[in-house]
Amino acid sequence: MGEYQHLTVTPVGGCIGAEIGGVDLGDNLADEVVAEIRQAWLAHLVVFFRNQHLTLEQYSAFARRIGTPGRYPFVPGLPDHPEIIEVKKLPHETVNFGGIWHTDTAYLERPPMASMLLAREVPAAGGDTEFANMYAAYDALSDGLKEFLRGLRSVNSSAMADVSKTREDRIADATEAGHTSAESYEAVHPVVRTHPETGQPALYVNVAHTARFEGMTEEESQPLLRFLFTHQSRSEFTCRFRWAPGSLALWDNRCAMHNPINDYHGQLRVMHRITFEGDEPR
Ligand code: SIN
Repeated sequence: MGEYQHLTVTPVGGCIGAEIGGVDLGDNLADEVVAEIRQAWLAHLVVFFRNQHLTLEQYSAFARRIGTPGRYPFVPGLPDHPEIIEVKKLPHETVNFGGIWHTDTAYLERPPMASMLLAREVPAAGGDTEFANMYAAYDALSDGLKEFLRGLRSVNSSAMADVSKTREDRIADATEAGHTSAESYEAVHPVVRTHPETGQPALYVNVAHTARFEGMTEEESQPLLRFLFTHQSRSEFTCRFRWAPGSLALWDNRCAMHNPINDYHGQLRVMHRITFEGDEPR
């Protein structure tokens, strides 16, 4: 069985993503199985599982084997599971939550290590999610640009217009339920971060949150940022995942971006998301 003794691991793209088989995440998994899931996740940046119809308790228990579940600042979690938020688009809505290339909450001082999404209801067609490999995006740059970027830090904000509008429907639900959240967050991070577990450099800017380079104006920063935003989502760095109820994805926010595709107006899509506490990018 090669590298893995307890799982099957089948790459889904040339550059990022693998589907894991041979495991029921609702079971009380042996440490060796969890270690192999982590090994595959670190190697492939995002791993996918099929037919995992987990209860909220099972989902939460699996999450605690992977890391420490955290809180999303803008939308409260489910009543008995504050660590799980519902990511949904209702048939009458036109905007999808997080519907732009991004890595999760890069505007926090300590952005989440990883995120996990479990599909509950999906459209008959559409609603796929794309993932992109930020090691590969960095690696494909010229040596000159790599060196230049290594000296830069970027200012990341939760208040940028394109991403703010993707949360409005869910914030409206939360406000109606009496939940209030801070207006905005901002954090400065290295443009190239070193993954704390693999030691590899990854490009760490994203079009949803990165406003400018530290010490520069937005106008001065925009030409290079625009180049990086286009470069980092080139199709050769990506894979695309087709969801079904019970599909589960676990991605590494330190070296991967994702983009949910908004091509299913009039249909319902409901996912349960858990994010994991992370460390300060370095
Ligand atoms: C998210 O950014 O967490 C949402 C991803 C998705 O809905 O596919």
